Amino acid sequence: MARLEHKTCIITGAARGIGEAIARAFAAEGAQVVVTDIDVTTGKILANAIGAKFIELDIAKEDHWDNLAEAYPNIDVLVNNAGITGFEGGVVPHDPENASLADWRAVHRVNTDGTFLGCRYGIKAMRGAGAGSIINMSSRSGMVGIPAASAYAASKAAIRNHTKTVALYCAQQGLNIRCNSVHPAAIMTPMWDPMLPPGEKAREQAMQALVKDTPLGRFGEPSEVAAICVLLASDEASYITGAEFTIDGGILAGSAAAPGS
Ligand SMILES: NC(=O)c1ccc[n+]([C@@H]2O[C@H](COP(=O)([O-])OP(=O)(O)OC[C@H]3O[C@@H](n4cnc5c(N)ncnc54)[C@H](O)[C@@H]3O)[C@@H](O)[C@H]2O)c1
Repeated sequence: MARLEHKTCIITGAARGIGEAIARAFAAEGAQVVVTDIDVTTGKILANAIGAKFIELDIAKEDHWDNLAEAYPNIDVLVNNAGITGFEGGVVPHDPENASLADWRAVHRVNTDGTFLGCRYGIKAMRGAGAGSIINMSSRSGMVGIPAASAYAASKAAIRNHTKTVALYCAQQGLNIRCNSVHPAAIMTPMWDPMLPPGEKAREQAMQALVKDTPLGRFGEPSEVAAICVLLASDEASYITGAEFTIDGGILAGSAAAPGS
């Protein structure tokens, strides 16, 4: 039997990148997938291709979550995947000395508020069955400081912590709703495009530099993040809640500057 058969699974930010890979992997495991995104055109094309439904959902907008709750009052799995770096419109200062309050807030509005709203919806939509799985996409950046991306790092740290609060709250409520966070390091998706230089050679060199301290020496693939999400969504993960999963080619296992390395 497929690992996610009979499960209704909502994925945010699923039109491309990691979310797309999760949607494809869930569909391959027999799930009833609902692709959601602000990118309606690409989201609908993907949904059609994998036999999923599409709903427009801006995770920062409360009324969009209300609409989703009306369409899907009962679900089994929610992946709060959508997130932004703050560099989507081009690279602007995001260091703790020079970042503007508006740019700081814009990142938190999507990543922090959006994940809060998602978890709130997810708990209510799983309460009827008394069970389910919420998967929050944090980052390696939620576990270490990132000088050039302070709002992103702080928002991902908030997601890491909120995941544990949600897990404990659900357990306290006697609900079998599990909540876990996933922490990828560099995964090759369109998210990186504004941060890489133009030209194939310069892009390749910049990518090499980004992963030079990664023990496995390469970027990760979206499908490698999707694989852990399949596990967490499935009943195989029935005793896993409040946990965090790093998918980082080993970078958090140690320090590049460690003696004897
Ligand atoms: N790619 C990486 O290296 C990496 C590493 C760690 C964590 N992550 C996290 O993984 C998640 C997915 O990243 P990705 O690399 O696939 O990014 P991506 O930019 O390729 O895709 C993000 C998707 O989210 C959508 N989106 C943006 N704002 C939204 C909003 N307000 N509401 C709903 N959808 C919205 C976009 O339209 C897009 O389809 C993000 O939370 C990101 O922070 C990515």
